[in-house]
Amino acid sequence: MDRVKTGIAELDRMLGGGFMQGDAVMVAGSAGTGKTTLGLQYLYNGITKFGENGIYVTFEQLPDQIYRDAANFGWDLKRFEEENRLQIVCTSPNLLLESGGGSLLEGPVKEIKPRRVVLDSLSHLAMYVGENELRKEAYRTIMWFKTRGLSSMFVWESAQLAAQSFAVTEVGMSFLVDTILLFRMVEIESSMKKALAVLKMRGSDHDKRLREYEITPQGIRVAAPFLEYEGVITGSPRRAAPENFMEMFRKAAKARK
Ligand SMILES: Nc1ncnc2c1ncn2[C@@H]1O[C@H](COP(=O)(O)OP(=O)(O)OP(=O)(O)O)[C@@H](O)[C@H]1O
Ligand SMILES: [Mg+2]
Repeated sequence: MDRVKTGIAELDRMLGGGFMQGDAVMVAGSAGTGKTTLGLQYLYNGITKFGENGIYVTFEQLPDQIYRDAANFGWDLKRFEEENRLQIVCTSPNLLLESGGGSLLEGPVKEIKPRRVVLDSLSHLAMYVGENELRKEAYRTIMWFKTRGLSSMFVWESAQLAAQSFAVTEVGMSFLVDTILLFRMVEIESSMKKALAVLKMRGSDHDKRLREYEITPQGIRVAAPFLEYEGVITGSPRRAAPENFMEMFRKAAKARK
């Protein structure tokens, strides 16, 4: 089966080739970890490398800021908008909710026939509705995308959690999505590094290791696994036997979601 590639070579390898077609992916991480960058890069690569059009839905930023930030990575999004290969939809959670799932996007979907959609962010939606409502609305939106054959990426901003305590979204959203990528800042030997893990991926094998990544002037680049440390995700890395840790981590994630 064809995979939906991010175009970030090492990340695609971690995912066994890429995301599964039509899957809903959650990208969770604290502020400034590169969630928006990944979303834009995923869409940019979709267009330039794989001929897949995309829609970027944002509650957080205005188009000019998005064009500017993307241009700093060398991504000319404006041009793609003009060419009808990309659409940036700036809206409010209220409008999305009132429209029922993704109906607000009916127009753009017809117009540019996207294969990829990024919603930045689902946690923003959480500020407008209660927990139960949020799950319902998120589910509705996910299904709206799925029934249109779109591969979707949902950004979730999560607080950097204290050592040993772990839940991806705090409000139990993890089971709604097919795949979860977790971004996290970690302190190792007195410097701040960024760590990335594939927490779950329904129906596929994937890299179980934690990887270091960087935000470079060309976008996100995934580097080596943190083989010698455990506790990286809980925020207190120690040099230790590495395998047990991801296992513990997954159990904790399961128990707390
Ligand atoms: N052109 C660039 N070159 C290199 N690094 C950059 C560039 N632009 C931004 N960054 C880095 O990316 C970080 C922000 O990434 P991004 O906005 O994707 O994070 P985010 O997870 O979406 O954050 P937030 O939760 O605030 O929305 C910046 O703090 C900076 O370190
Ligand atoms: Mg962001």
